[in-house]
Amino acid sequence: MNKYILLSIVFIFKGLVAFCNEPDSAYVFAYSTNKNNNTAGLHYAWSVDKENWHTIGPEWRFLASDFGTWGAQKKMIQPFLFEDETGLKHCIWTLNNEVGQFAHAASDDLFNWKRQSYPEVTEEGNVLDLEVSYDKASKQYLITWLSEKQEQKKWFKTTTVDFKNYDETQEITKNERLNLRSTIVLDDEEQSGSIVKVSWKRIDGIIKWHEWSLFHNQERADNTSLDAERFKDLQSVKAAISVQPEKRKKISDKLVGIFFEDINYAADGGLYAELVQNRGFEYALSDRKNRDSTWNSYKSWSIEGSDATFSIDTTEPVHVNNKHFAVLKVDKTGSGLANEGFDGIPVKIGEKYDFSVFAKSLGDNNGRLLVQLIDENKKVIAESKTGTISGKWKKYETVLEANAASEKAKIVVIPQVTGEVALDMISLFPQNTFKGHKNGLRADLAQTIADIHPKFVRFPGGCVAHGDGLANMYRWSRTVGPLEARVPQRNIWNYHQSVGLGYFEYFQFCEDINAEPIPVLAAGVPCQNSATCGHGQQGGIPLCDMDEYIQEVLDLIEWANGDATTKWGKVRAKAGHSEPFHLKYIGIGNEDLITDIFEERFTMIFKAVQEKHPEITVIGTVGPFYMGTDYEEGWELATKLEVPMVDEHYYQPPGWFIHNQDFYDRYDRSKSKVYLGEYAAHLPGRPNNIETALSEALYMTSLERNGDVVEMTSYAPLLAKEGNTQWTPDLIYFNNNEVKPTVGYHVQKLFGQNAGETYIPGTIQLSDNSEDLKKRVAMSVVQDAESKDIIIKLVNLLPAEVEAGIDLTKLNIADSDAVLSVLSGTPDDKTAIPQSRKLQVSDNLKYQLPAYSFSVIRLKTNN
Ligand code: AHR
Repeated sequence: MNKYILLSIVFIFKGLVAFCNEPDSAYVFAYSTNKNNNTAGLHYAWSVDKENWHTIGPEWRFLASDFGTWGAQKKMIQPFLFEDETGLKHCIWTLNNEVGQFAHAASDDLFNWKRQSYPEVTEEGNVLDLEVSYDKASKQYLITWLSEKQEQKKWFKTTTVDFKNYDETQEITKNERLNLRSTIVLDDEEQSGSIVKVSWKRIDGIIKWHEWSLFHNQERADNTSLDAERFKDLQSVKAAISVQPEKRKKISDKLVGIFFEDINYAADGGLYAELVQNRGFEYALSDRKNRDSTWNSYKSWSIEGSDATFSIDTTEPVHVNNKHFAVLKVDKTGSGLANEGFDGIPVKIGEKYDFSVFAKSLGDNNGRLLVQLIDENKKVIAESKTGTISGKWKKYETVLEANAASEKAKIVVIPQVTGEVALDMISLFPQNTFKGHKNGLRADLAQTIADIHPKFVRFPGGCVAHGDGLANMYRWSRTVGPLEARVPQRNIWNYHQSVGLGYFEYFQFCEDINAEPIPVLAAGVPCQNSATCGHGQQGGIPLCDMDEYIQEVLDLIEWANGDATTKWGKVRAKAGHSEPFHLKYIGIGNEDLITDIFEERFTMIFKAVQEKHPEITVIGTVGPFYMGTDYEEGWELATKLEVPMVDEHYYQPPGWFIHNQDFYDRYDRSKSKVYLGEYAAHLPGRPNNIETALSEALYMTSLERNGDVVEMTSYAPLLAKEGNTQWTPDLIYFNNNEVKPTVGYHVQKLFGQNAGETYIPGTIQLSDNSEDLKKRVAMSVVQDAESKDIIIKLVNLLPAEVEAGIDLTKLNIADSDAVLSVLSGTPDDKTAIPQSRKLQVSDNLKYQLPAYSFSVIRLKTNN
């Protein structure tokens, strides 16, 4: 028996056994340390006599602060624990040394904590040394703290009955402070904290919780590097497989879709086919939080030749939303303004490119613009001229045809007269876009996505949807209409969004690939990790502005579905789509912190949409993890409001996916449906390889099995441009010239192309019945309504082949020729691609699942 199994058994055993002679009550000491820049969270020690203390963990994190941005913030300083007369425990803590706010959270059991709040109690400085007591007579909690401002110390107090509303802060003397903290030596170190007397049951509960957490983390850490030892005696494995078509059930017909977020240059420089970078001269230092002095209106632009200069102006722009433009001054003709594209401009021989520019001549010298594509060796590989530039802003267009290819060309705009010319929205698109649309998408990337056969597309994020602070929320209406009138903005992933790929283009793409559009809108709150909401607090649209925001949400539905005579339907029609887009779903919120601020705003939006558009399915949000406060609180809120569907997110190691295949088996079918909107298997180093892909495949068989409660799923993130990634792993990598689907992509594609709307239960009986084996061999069988094909998916995450005998008698096979697709490789293989061939099938099919493989058998039946 290996160490791993032994430890697991010990934890489970200890968790189940109750010991005699335990005290009725004992003491919990709650504290935090300043380790990891004060982000280590709340720790406990227990004692029966207040003398001998036992740390748990030691220093296990039972509660973490959620205030502020990732990294330096999320601190918990000097927590104070307190039990009220109902037995509810409250923890308050200092957030940092600056803000006049503190944090509060409550818990029944000391390990499941409810939502956090961050009341603002003083403008007089910070909030340190917090303490709380309860006055039975007035039924009020009294909170005291120390404030330091310019080395001046002052003490304050406030009172509250519910930790939601606080009475006015009053200054007190030092002697009036509560002064309830204790100092205890733990593991030779002095710790300051608070002591609470609780029932032994509570302490036993936290000890067991800690043990379960260790066990759970061990499961999560499980990976194939343990296989050599774990399966060293494994010889041949046999599997007797049968199916039960009589127990078939309907499942979702939208199970596999895609999550599109403008992260990793997925939009500009990626799926959006525009080849000119910073075409509108709108890049700004703030896009990169002022950390990159080259990131400004000049980014990607330079002068080609020696007889010209250019500057940026904002007087009388093409449009108020697009304030910056270039003024090019030419002293001698021949020099021009050049753009290097996104890591160069890829040009294909024989292809045509649409050039456009807004221009106005600033002097009397009106002439044409020569537009050239020049390769790495300065050779002109395409050129054309615009018409004569007049003295008023006007759009000029011309087409360039490449006589040679280049992986890294430049575009140069060369005025044919001397003098000054104003230029803006300088754009170059290949004519070969996906489905040939103007302002369209990169054909090869879009096709790679389409090949998954996604049933829906979620956009524009992710964190991009709720944004970095209120001003950065993605506002759909600012992304439609003429390109020069759209409102470009900072991307939360620290670059620029031209929003040339805006809502119209997203909806058009969905229509092109026959996928449901799933726009996700902010729930009136920005990302909880925002840097711009008062020291990172979640913040929220002021309630007085919520009506306007809600109207914007309702307008989206009219824009998408209203006929061309409606206010917003007219805008859509003007953009070239007179028919409605038939929007059915709308996501409200993205893995937000579930706070009172969130709940209030989400509820307002949800109720308004429900009332005005009962035909629209609203998708709520339940936080960024598969458990914990936001998950629990999010689900509670969704259940209370009867939200039709919720969006779950979890990025976890392969071990989690292996050991949680029953995650949805236990879901209550009467509650909200699930959209698993973001998930991926993450290994250390974050590769996308056979190990991650097969653990996802294994889990996806359980998603199909639970397709009656899980309506939709999407791997995240989708796209990543090499050299420009903020997040790995992703599903599809690319550069300007190549698309590089990952192993995980092939799993999504196999599931997407082999989806079914009916699930046929089955059983797998292994020759060796150990849990380790059982958890690594999985199957799901579905039937596609249109072709009537039956699809058998088999995953083998073992280092050995599995000899399967599959009893297909009940399926009534119509054709002995089936199609088999197999993806397999060693766990660290990042390049495997599925191989397909014909497979002869019969009622008793013998099929050998290769080691570390995913097989899909597609067969014809008479049913
Ligand atoms: O998929 C990348 C990010 O992960 C998303 O933007 C966010 O929703 C999640 O945290």
